[in-house]
Amino acid sequence: MQSAVGAALGAAHAGADPQVRPADAQFGDYQSNLALGLAKQLRQKPRDLAQAIADQLTAGGWFQRVEIAGPGFINLTLSDAAVLEAAAGMFDDERLGVAAAQQPDRVVVDYGSPNLAKEMHIGHLRSSIIGDAIVRVLRFAGHQVVLQNHIGDWGTPFGMLLEQLIDRGWDQAGDHSLADLNRLYEEARARFDSEPAFAERCRQRVVKLQGGDEESLAFWRRLISESCAHMNHVFALLGVLLRDSDLRGESFYNPRLAQVVEDLRSGGLLVESDGAQVVFCEGFTSKTGAPLPLIVRKSDGGYGYAATDLAAARFRVHELGATRVVYVVDARQSDHFAMVFWTLRKAGWAAPEVALEHVAFGTILGPDKKPFKTRSGGTVKLAEVLEEAVGRARAALDAKDRGLDDAELGRIARAVGVGAVKYADLSSDRIKDYVFDYDRMLALEGNTAPYLQYAYVRVQSILRRASEESGELRLAGSALLISDPIERQLMLLLLRLPRVVEQVVRSLEPHRLCGYLYELASLVHQFHERCPVLKAPEPALRNSRLALSELAGRSLRQGLELLGVSVVDRM
Ligand code: ARG
Repeated sequence: MQSAVGAALGAAHAGADPQVRPADAQFGDYQSNLALGLAKQLRQKPRDLAQAIADQLTAGGWFQRVEIAGPGFINLTLSDAAVLEAAAGMFDDERLGVAAAQQPDRVVVDYGSPNLAKEMHIGHLRSSIIGDAIVRVLRFAGHQVVLQNHIGDWGTPFGMLLEQLIDRGWDQAGDHSLADLNRLYEEARARFDSEPAFAERCRQRVVKLQGGDEESLAFWRRLISESCAHMNHVFALLGVLLRDSDLRGESFYNPRLAQVVEDLRSGGLLVESDGAQVVFCEGFTSKTGAPLPLIVRKSDGGYGYAATDLAAARFRVHELGATRVVYVVDARQSDHFAMVFWTLRKAGWAAPEVALEHVAFGTILGPDKKPFKTRSGGTVKLAEVLEEAVGRARAALDAKDRGLDDAELGRIARAVGVGAVKYADLSSDRIKDYVFDYDRMLALEGNTAPYLQYAYVRVQSILRRASEESGELRLAGSALLISDPIERQLMLLLLRLPRVVEQVVRSLEPHRLCGYLYELASLVHQFHERCPVLKAPEPALRNSRLALSELAGRSLRQGLELLGVSVVDRM
């Protein structure tokens, strides 16, 4: 349709965006508002221009109706033949009509990226899940994606941990488990806050570590490997794509930090402020209006978080060849990234054509609408949250006897429980905070993973019964027919998938895909309510409805897969 409207415009406006968008059903299938803007440029009446475009379109046979409405909107209603042709094309395409990008971007996605000094908690959920969905969508859309797990394996917390270990005795720590590491961190933190001498030693320890002191490094390596094992356990539970080969933590950039400082200095961007080396970024001021510094090197000689990010961005652009760098990080770091991006541009380390994007997200809240904490005010462990969701899903499954064995129930409970937690996160607009609520995320009704998984299960059960009745199904796109308006509506909605994928590629907002899948699942449900499939009045209709069901099932599965949510065949 884009090209039909484009062609109707004629060669004189070959570059103009035809602006064809899905329309509110009362107006037609699609709508284009392009006449409004273009008429202004051409000093014509919008309705006249719209009419001229419409006259061209009616000729093609694609459209059943082309109408001009309001000040010059063009409302487009496709012919049934056009809808069927497009739907058949989608059916016969493994990629469901989603074309692979012709000029793929090379996208570095920085996500997961926990700080390794502590056990992973609920705060680490969002980056891992949102980042993973973004990676899957970008890959599916044909982009080259480089995953980077920018773990916090360096800096002040490690100085604290090491000092505390030294004070307690190296041996005593022995092969501590991660639970001990959490306690160790808390002890160290308390001393850091209350004993200035200890805090000073911690800072010195960081400098030693950064300077390559062998004793400090040896113990640090042990901590990191143990912490990584824990992280991988949580990632496996979550089913995220990150592997050890994607690890490139803060420590990796240590040897590059001096050069960053050097280059900023020779570029005239570095300023000394209270003994620290900082960059003052234009337009960034504190609440009191004072210019806000990006601290590159602290007064004690240690390098800050920002120095590492500058080195990492340089590495990503120049050595990994990124054309787009995406940071999936808490919204509270927005100023940090804005200043880092400003500095990268100013220093000429990221050319204007390289996109730098902070994919920011809000906080997960508890039932009291405050950041989610345990009853005693502690951090909520991520692994425990996932197990709780799986346990609840299992209890719901056990409440009904479906004749499934224990292993199968376990598998389904895992897909539903973990899927519910992930989907609840992805389906809310990422920039907003949301309340973590097991009951809501596990509900079989509403915009939830179980609802979508169940929609898929129902489609699968229809297809299974059909093949039980009549042997292996050989469905093809050419079988599709329109006998009821809802079938047509469903086809049109299915045909929107590529557009939705494109929107997520651009906006990096997975909730758009969730909203689409929810709409799709609801419409599939209505379709099955209205149009009997197995008991369709004639064989041709039965085949068409089976094909439409299968196409819907494949779209649901693909969509959920892009979100990192598993489907099951029964539940
Ligand atoms: N480790 C950081 C944290 O937990 C997130 C790192 C995000 N990535 C980055 N390049 N700064 O807050």
